[in-house]
Amino acid sequence: MITISCASPKGGVGKTTVATIIATTLAMQEKPRTPKVRVIDADPSANLTRWAAERENKGRAALFDVVSGVVAETIVDQIDAIEEEDETDFLIIDLEGTAGEIVGYAIGRSDLVVIPMSSSSMDARQAAKASQLVKRMAKTFKIDLPYVFAFCRTNSAIMTKEHKTIVSQLRTHNEPVLEVELKERSAYRAIFTEGATVPELEENKSGSIGKAQDNAVAFTQAIIDYLVASRTIEEAA
Ligand SMILES: Nc1ncnc2c1ncn2[C@@H]1O[C@H](COP(=O)(O)OP(=O)(O)O)[C@@H](O)[C@H]1O
Ligand SMILES: [Mg+2]
Repeated sequence: MITISCASPKGGVGKTTVATIIATTLAMQEKPRTPKVRVIDADPSANLTRWAAERENKGRAALFDVVSGVVAETIVDQIDAIEEEDETDFLIIDLEGTAGEIVGYAIGRSDLVVIPMSSSSMDARQAAKASQLVKRMAKTFKIDLPYVFAFCRTNSAIMTKEHKTIVSQLRTHNEPVLEVELKERSAYRAIFTEGATVPELEENKSGSIGKAQDNAVAFTQAIIDYLVASRTIEEAA
């Protein structure tokens, strides 16, 4: 089982959106086979749980189980129980926007921590706090904990000067940045109103649903590629 957590102490950076995009994209993948996905909603505001409930309301088929109401005292047992069942290929964990105890436990059990951030320097500082927490956990437990920054809600037409500066600062400090950004697209908001996946949304004249879906697939693939690459480096070390 591969466990991917979405973490950042800042709210509103795109953790839940990223977790939902990764989980739905993987669960809809057809080749070479459809992986079994599960989700842990470890945020008391329960937005991913609401997405799944809205899905059910609208009569759409469930793509995966969402485990809700998870607390710090039980999260590790819940992750381990899912792993022991030996049925799940990908466990996606959506975390609350704090640096609370539960975040540390989830990170400690993750194969990859995705840190969503927007291209503002205020967000960059908060994102750095998330990566520092991952590094402290890795050091404390003497384990390898790969993480990657993922830019979210970036402008699909232009790359702002602020964005370029933040990316180059991260690269200068050898911080890992995901090659593909999740662009700002209304489709990524609409999925929550509709309890839908991106391809289930109704296409409009501008074809923006198709573009959002292509971006979602490329983004998810970049995460999987990053994970595979980080494992290869770890094995070679
Ligand atoms: N790529 C995106 N395009 C458009 N809207 C987005 C995107 N990412 C996030 N949002 C919107 O921004 C807000 C915060 O995103 P969310 O995923 O809930 O962040 P977090 O989980 O970090 O608090 C939500 O209203 C969400 O719909
Ligand atoms: Mg959230």
